[in-house]
Amino acid sequence: MGTIRLGKRTEKRVPMIKEFVPLAELDDLVFGGWDIFEDNAYQASLKAGVLKKGLLDQIQPELEAIKPMRGVFSRDYVKLLDGKYIKSAKTKWDYARMLMDDMTAFKENNRLDRVVAVWTGSTEVFLKKEEVHQSLDAFEKGLKENHPAIAPSMIYAYAALKLGIPYANGAPNLSTDFPAMFELAKETSTPISGKDFKTGQTLMKTILAPGLKARLLGLNGWFSTNILGNRDGEVLDDPGSFKTKEESKLSVLDQILQPEVYPELYSNYYHKVRINYYPPRGDNKEGWDNLDIFGWLGYPMQIKVDFLCRDSILAAPIVLDLALFMDLARRANFTGIQEWLSFYYKSPMHLPELYPEHDLFIQLMKLKNTLRYIMGEEQITHLGADYYEYYR
Ligand SMILES: NC(=O)c1ccc[n+]([C@@H]2O[C@H](COP(=O)([O-])OP(=O)(O)OC[C@H]3O[C@@H](n4cnc5c(N)ncnc54)[C@H](O)[C@@H]3O)[C@@H](O)[C@H]2O)c1
Repeated sequence: MGTIRLGKRTEKRVPMIKEFVPLAELDDLVFGGWDIFEDNAYQASLKAGVLKKGLLDQIQPELEAIKPMRGVFSRDYVKLLDGKYIKSAKTKWDYARMLMDDMTAFKENNRLDRVVAVWTGSTEVFLKKEEVHQSLDAFEKGLKENHPAIAPSMIYAYAALKLGIPYANGAPNLSTDFPAMFELAKETSTPISGKDFKTGQTLMKTILAPGLKARLLGLNGWFSTNILGNRDGEVLDDPGSFKTKEESKLSVLDQILQPEVYPELYSNYYHKVRINYYPPRGDNKEGWDNLDIFGWLGYPMQIKVDFLCRDSILAAPIVLDLALFMDLARRANFTGIQEWLSFYYKSPMHLPELYPEHDLFIQLMKLKNTLRYIMGEEQITHLGADYYEYYR
């Protein structure tokens, strides 16, 4: 449904994005994937309970035809899941080869021209970058030696990149966010993007925080809590997985508010994020925020946000947009980190010498300007000098 303005405001050229850039047609898409449980997409959708059964039944045969491939999984990285529908091999290197065979077979069996991978698997335990992540040689050696700092999501990412398949990372897992993967992406001219879809509470945060800063309203504290009862919530009940998520959720405010530039307003705020697993809510998450702000002469005020959201209804369109845009990126010969897709992520990947851009509105401008750039249209700067005489 998104549109894009082209040229001057007086030209009134505002095409749909899908008509402006050559995206793959939805009717040409084929979906496939892995899981550690054997349920086909129809059974999994019934269990998840996001969409009404009546709606699912209308596409039951199509959904039943999507059967997962066996996953690469270890409980060392996701403590609270115990799936048995998994591959078995001696080394992580062998697992990578098996995943590459799956990807190649998927492409051939469905007679596809191109493939894109989007990670929508669970959040893994918190891992720090180590020596093994610093170069492709070290990483490949680590795969062969079953290095413990190589998590399953990294094995999938390696397999995809090795085959030149663009890889978008919807979880906060490291996955492709380290030098070995940058090297591989460069070697195979493959786009990568991540991390962690921006859908609920953090989306709200990156909408509100730029507004507070724009009006120079100060912040004393921002308390965010969530209750959710889906499988994601269950996984995040483990402190290791929660830590990965927490890091991702905490990072946004500092970059947007720039305490180093506005010390009187933002150098002392207290930021807390909690996630609580609460089964009765299922996928219908409640994201509750309390902001203690202050205005002129330091007078305190409060803002409360209670977002009764639906996790998957917010996330699914992002998965689709990313699949289409990552495919476009590949055809535009964009390789490595796709910063223009930061719009979709809680912790956008960025080069080590840059800071990430979290402000949703700057992210959207960046995305649209990139689309204009791809199509050879002029960038829109919002200067407006063409319309007013006082610029002369
Ligand atoms: N709104 C959202 O839904 C949202 C927003 C931001 C980020 N995320 C992230 O996206 C990821 C998925 O979220 P979800 O709500 O769809 O979770 P989910 O639990 O419903 O789905 C994850 C699936 O991945 C499977 N899985 C786990 N490890 C695997 C492996 N190694 N190989 C293959 N399959 C594996 C699980 O069995 C499960 O079916 C999580 O990391 C979550 O934090 C989701």
